[in-house]
Amino acid sequence: MNYSDILIDHFKNPRNQGEIKDASGVGDVGNPICGDMMKIYIKVEKDKNGDDIIKDVKFQTLGCAAAIASTSMLTEMVKGIKVDDALKITREQVAEKLGGLPKEKIHCSILANEGLKKAIAQYRGEKMEKNTEEKEAEGAHC
Ligand code: FES
Repeated sequence: MNYSDILIDHFKNPRNQGEIKDASGVGDVGNPICGDMMKIYIKVEKDKNGDDIIKDVKFQTLGCAAAIASTSMLTEMVKGIKVDDALKITREQVAEKLGGLPKEKIHCSILANEGLKKAIAQYRGEKMEKNTEEKEAEGAHC
């Protein structure tokens, strides 16, 4: 399997790994097929314009190299930006920043984006319906 140097670096030295005790929202996602699990914590604060900003983000995972690297990269991309802008980041953009993902590992990056979406939904008090990507993850063979 060909992993880029960037991906290997994020796998070996994951950024923002850990837990936020007083998180504003926590997103828990899992893939029942491979058993990989992801938990993303966000700390949200309002800026002077009243916009919600992701002040801090951390993750814990029992996951594969691609899942760890994708989440590490996503946390770097969303830290310090508006919640609305964080929601616009796609898993394709995360994969691109990682220098690409092998085709058979593309589904692994779902955990990062879905975990973040769930954490934001919890912060906003929204109920999340399972979306297509999540159903896709559940059906994926790892
Ligand atoms: S998410 Fe299942 S192997 Fe990567």
